[in-house]
Amino acid sequence: MTIQNVIIDTQQRIESVLQSFLAESSISDSKLKEAMRYSLLLGGKRVRPFLVYSTGEILGANPKDLDASAAAIESIHTYSLIHDDLPAMDDDELRRGKPTCHKQYDEATAILAGDALQSFAFEILTGHSFQGTNISNQLALVSLVASSASQMCAGQSIDLENTNNANVSIEHLENMHKLKTGALIKASVLAGAICANATSAQIQALGQYADAIGLAFQVWDDILDITSDTETLGKPQGSDEQSNKSTYPALLGLDQAKIKAQQLIDEANLALTKIDADTSTLSQLAQYIIERDH
Ligand code: IPE
Ligand code: IPE
Ligand code: MG
Ligand code: MG
Ligand code: MG
Repeated sequence: MTIQNVIIDTQQRIESVLQSFLAESSISDSKLKEAMRYSLLLGGKRVRPFLVYSTGEILGANPKDLDASAAAIESIHTYSLIHDDLPAMDDDELRRGKPTCHKQYDEATAILAGDALQSFAFEILTGHSFQGTNISNQLALVSLVASSASQMCAGQSIDLENTNNANVSIEHLENMHKLKTGALIKASVLAGAICANATSAQIQALGQYADAIGLAFQVWDDILDITSDTETLGKPQGSDEQSNKSTYPALLGLDQAKIKAQQLIDEANLALTKIDADTSTLSQLAQYIIERDH
C-alpha cells in the first residue's frame, strides 16, 4: 500500500472512531458539543493517529486500544488548534479549509470547545478498558498524554513571548518547536508503543525517531507558511510573517531550513534501523512530513 492510501485509511478510521466516542460523550450542552464536533471532524491530515496506529500495529497492539489512544491524542491536538487560532494567539480565520472555531461560533464557545476537548481526551483514555495491556500501562498513557499537552502549552507560551523578537537563538527556537509540536507527536509514537507493551530498547529508539520527526514537522510547517498557498494549506498562508513569528526560515533562510528538515528525517531513519521490526510505514511517514504540501 502507498503512504497516501495508508493516510486515507487512517483518516476514515479515526473519523468514525471520533464520531462514536463523541456519541457516547457526557457533554450535555448541544452548542458546545456541536462546536467540538465541528472542529474535530473538519478534516486534517491525522498524522498523530497515523503514528499511534503504525507504531502499535508494527509491535502487535490491540486495535481498540489504539483507537482510544489515537482519538484522545487527536482531541488534544484539535483543542490546541482551536486555541492557537484565537485572536489572543495567532488570530487566524481559516483552519482545515473552513472558518476557525471562533469564526464559525464565537470566541467564548471556541475557548470552551478547546477546554472540553482536552477533558474529553482523558475521558476516552480513562474510560476505555484496555485489552492488550495492563492498568499500569494505561496510567502511563494518561501521564504521557497529560505531560505532552502541558509541554504543548509551554511551547505555545514561548511562541507568544518570541513574537516580534528577531534575536531568538536557534537553540531557543528548537526548544520551542519541540515543546509546542514535538511533544504531542512523540506522545503519539510512544502511545502506540505502550499499547503494544514495547521493550525499553524499542521505546528508546522510537523516542529518537519521534524527537526527530516532531521537530521536522514544525520546521516544515514553518516552510509551508511561506511556500504554499492558502487554498492548499487550508489555513492562511503568510500568517507567521504577518505576525512576525520566530520560525526556522525566518532565522536560517528557506534553504537552510529545508536542509535542517532533511537532516532530521535522516536522523529519524537512523533511529528506525535500531528496531527489529518492519518500520517501513514509519519511514515513509517521515519522508511524507517533508514532502507534504499542507
Ligand atoms: C498543525 O498541525 C499545527 C502544528 C502543530 C504545526 P497539522 O499540520 O497536523 O494540522 P492538521 O491536523 O493536519 O489540520
Ligand atoms: C502551532 O504552531 C502549534 C500548536 C500547538 C497548535 P502554528 O501556529 O505554526 O500552527 P498553524 O500553522 O497555525 O497550524
Ligand atoms: Mg501558533
Ligand atoms: Mg497558528
Ligand atoms: Mg504554522
